[in-house]
Amino acid sequence: MQLPVRSFDAVIVGGGGSGLRTALELSQAELKVAVLSKVFPTRSHTVAAQGGVAASLGNVEEDNWHWHMYDTVKGSDYLGDQDAIEFMCRKANEVVYELEHFGMPFDRLPDGKIYQRPFGGQTRNYGERMVPRSCAAADRTGHAMLHTLYQANLKAHTQFFIEWMALELVRGADGTVLGVTALEMETGEVMMLQAKATVLATGGAGRIYAASTNAFINTGDGLGMAARAGIPLEDMEFWQFHPTGVAGAGVLITEGVRGEGGYLLNKDGERFMERYAPNAKDLASRDVVSRAMATEIKEGRGAGKEADSILLKLDHLGEEVINKRLPGIREIARKFANVDPVKDPIPVVPTCHYQMGGIPTNYNGQVVVPKDGDAETVVEGLYAVGECACVSVHGANRLGTNSLLDLLVFGKAAGEQVIRDLNEDGRLHKSLPKDADALTLQRLARLDGQKNGERVSDVGAEMRRIMQLHCGVFRFPELLAEGVRKLKEVAGRAGRTEIKDKSKTFNTARVEALELDNLIETAVASLVSAEARKESRGSHDRADCPERDDEKWLKHTLWYKDGDRLEYKPVHRKPLSVEPFEPKARVY
Ligand code: FUM
Repeated sequence: MQLPVRSFDAVIVGGGGSGLRTALELSQAELKVAVLSKVFPTRSHTVAAQGGVAASLGNVEEDNWHWHMYDTVKGSDYLGDQDAIEFMCRKANEVVYELEHFGMPFDRLPDGKIYQRPFGGQTRNYGERMVPRSCAAADRTGHAMLHTLYQANLKAHTQFFIEWMALELVRGADGTVLGVTALEMETGEVMMLQAKATVLATGGAGRIYAASTNAFINTGDGLGMAARAGIPLEDMEFWQFHPTGVAGAGVLITEGVRGEGGYLLNKDGERFMERYAPNAKDLASRDVVSRAMATEIKEGRGAGKEADSILLKLDHLGEEVINKRLPGIREIARKFANVDPVKDPIPVVPTCHYQMGGIPTNYNGQVVVPKDGDAETVVEGLYAVGECACVSVHGANRLGTNSLLDLLVFGKAAGEQVIRDLNEDGRLHKSLPKDADALTLQRLARLDGQKNGERVSDVGAEMRRIMQLHCGVFRFPELLAEGVRKLKEVAGRAGRTEIKDKSKTFNTARVEALELDNLIETAVASLVSAEARKESRGSHDRADCPERDDEKWLKHTLWYKDGDRLEYKPVHRKPLSVEPFEPKARVY
């Protein structure tokens, strides 16, 4: 083996909310922990989460975890695993109070309790009416959370490798994961980080779409690494389109705007959500609102010169409320839409926002793969948390503010599981195979040696166009099939890209080429899985099969890179302690 080796108890790939929450648990237990991050940790994409973190604290109105659980199962269109959903909803209050004690600057109610606002699909008494469940720090909740967790990690002596990109998982002969290889972006140095526990926390891959609320760093690095290491990707057909991305710019406008009382209008000034979701209206779940908006635009009732956007009205909230509760939104609207929402509505469109699928895990964050029929087995040494993981609590559609909750609950749970694993089996560093760095060196040599290849940016742009056109809010059988064919051609081209500048220091072109490999694995997994699922469920809406089909399709998809093949596994329909919520028609 050629690469230098450094050894840790745990290596965490990703410095966003989930990675930091896991790291904190481990560092506080005095383990030797390394966090790798492509950017300074407080610039991770969690920083862009705006509206809140869900927990049934009941600070404004009566609430409890049973109602939260029901809403989440219904929101997932019954594809979510009910054991994991119960686990998450029951733990919500604990992890939010814990965060408060770490120093999180939540907004306050007059009585000093944490401020809570309503969000889509969050109801009291099993759908009776909306309940304020999202704990917020103005419209900068993710920002505040990330800073709080980063500071707590500094205090706990977590070691940070900043501007390092992980390249490949290293597996031993028995399949145990033994660490990762990684590249220091500044110097081009490549290293082996050996670990008793490897935690993937690389966030989402929303950059597979042309219009996305996601940061440029969201390139599915963990998904690509897992897929190349033989681990399947689960439920990748389910992509969430957030109803309110700024038209033409993609920047997120929080659902918290509608939680505070804003609403959507078509070009005729009609509050059209009343027709699509008579009870919840603008606070129906995101898949429902995005489809309604896309339908309004398709049927000619879009606003703007091209009739291709919808208007988000909030001026009636008044300048004081907007400045206090939604200051970031006012700034974003001025900068990216050139409107001041105190006076004018913001033009918005449904925009790719979140991946419900990912690396399959159980609710302790252990990566699991199928074994002998319906049984599952743990991949020793490997854990995944946050958006890159599929627990699955979001199923076919995530409810707003359940993402920050997911990363706190499962970030902590994975940390606790790593501690149990390291204590119980007294795990020692297993020796690395002789060829542990072979795949990494091959990839880098291919890139550095390629001549007369295509530009990375051209191939990436083509992939994003295909995903946008062929796998959007509404899906059509011919477009899906054609998309799969085209994307496979593009995947071939991605293997022949050339970086024109061969220097290794500060070479962003080299990093983009490595990221493209991960984006392509993610895009292929998504389109192939979407083409195969012949029903409509949550965010996956097919024109040829408009109904949900529980008899045939109440199951999770698994896509394997090896052979580009699909398998399916059952949904965990049995919760931990309560009666299951049986599938029924989903109306808001
Ligand atoms: O709309 C928002 O503030 C986004 C929150 C989320 O995706 O959970």
